[in-house]
Amino acid sequence: MKKIAVITSGGDAPGMNAALRAVVRKAIFCGLEVTGIHRGFCGLMENEYSRMSLRSVSGIINRGGTILKTVRCPEVRTAAGMKKAVRTLKDLKIEGLIIIGGDGSLAAGTAIAKHGIAVINIPASIDNDIFGSDETIGFDTALNTAIEAIDKIRDTATSHERVFIVEVMGRHHGFLALGVGVASGAEFIIIPEIKTDLDSICKQIKQARQKGKTSLIMIYAEGAGDSHELAAKIQKCTGYETRVSSLGYIQRGGSPSGRSRILASQFGSAAVELIIKGKKSRLVVKTRGRITDIPFSKAIANTKRIDMAFYKMAKELAS
Ligand code: F6P
Repeated sequence: MKKIAVITSGGDAPGMNAALRAVVRKAIFCGLEVTGIHRGFCGLMENEYSRMSLRSVSGIINRGGTILKTVRCPEVRTAAGMKKAVRTLKDLKIEGLIIIGGDGSLAAGTAIAKHGIAVINIPASIDNDIFGSDETIGFDTALNTAIEAIDKIRDTATSHERVFIVEVMGRHHGFLALGVGVASGAEFIIIPEIKTDLDSICKQIKQARQKGKTSLIMIYAEGAGDSHELAAKIQKCTGYETRVSSLGYIQRGGSPSGRSRILASQFGSAAVELIIKGKKSRLVVKTRGRITDIPFSKAIANTKRIDMAFYKMAKELAS
């Protein structure tokens, strides 16, 4: 294999640049030629790319976002869109493609692989929702960004003796919310995977007050529903002033943490090694501390589950 391409796709995640740097440096070290696709799969359809060099990835390990840029690209899911994307790769004589992205990128990777191109995916998403990997690139950074914000929110919550609902990202899952909740010492963690019971929440808030907790932080995963609606209900049933603070897109930006940078470097390097070994349709993962890989089919067919023991521990520590 002589020529490979690399692309960042889906929502950006801090550490994507570190992964890109690792892919490019490792590939060049191993004698491969690397093309960087710009603006995700939309760029691939529109022939937007450039040749990557050792210097083109200098000074990016510390930068959030992705220098290649990324676009949500529904068109690539259509047959016509996929045809255009594959055409670009074939015209460039690309034999291997490394995709740095979230779970949506797995479907695109699978579709491209059907056209004879060796595809390897690297999981990058602040949501940490990709089956098979303990962690995704960007998760640790988003976790730390949220923790820093919540430490500040706790100050005002304490001064005003308020209940604060802090909404965090995570799409349909509660992995980020659960991590943030444990690390910020939140009193409540609401995630889509576990049904919420308003009466029980109101009862627990009142009991917490009786136990001397004058302010309360509830971490609320965006996928769990309307946080403002819940805030109004809590205020009504408890009589306590309740506010919502949605952390939003700050969770997606910023300089990647050391942990995100290391994971990205390991994943990037491992992806190139898989390509060189002639592997196809594999997702690079970290399982029980080891960097390994699983087939796309397994990653797509399974859903990552919340660690219930971890959730239970969070509840016990919040009393
Ligand atoms: O997947 C990452 C993520 O930030 C989710 O947490 C969030 O639901 C979504 O992307 C937001 O997507 P967009 O960038 O398209 O608004």
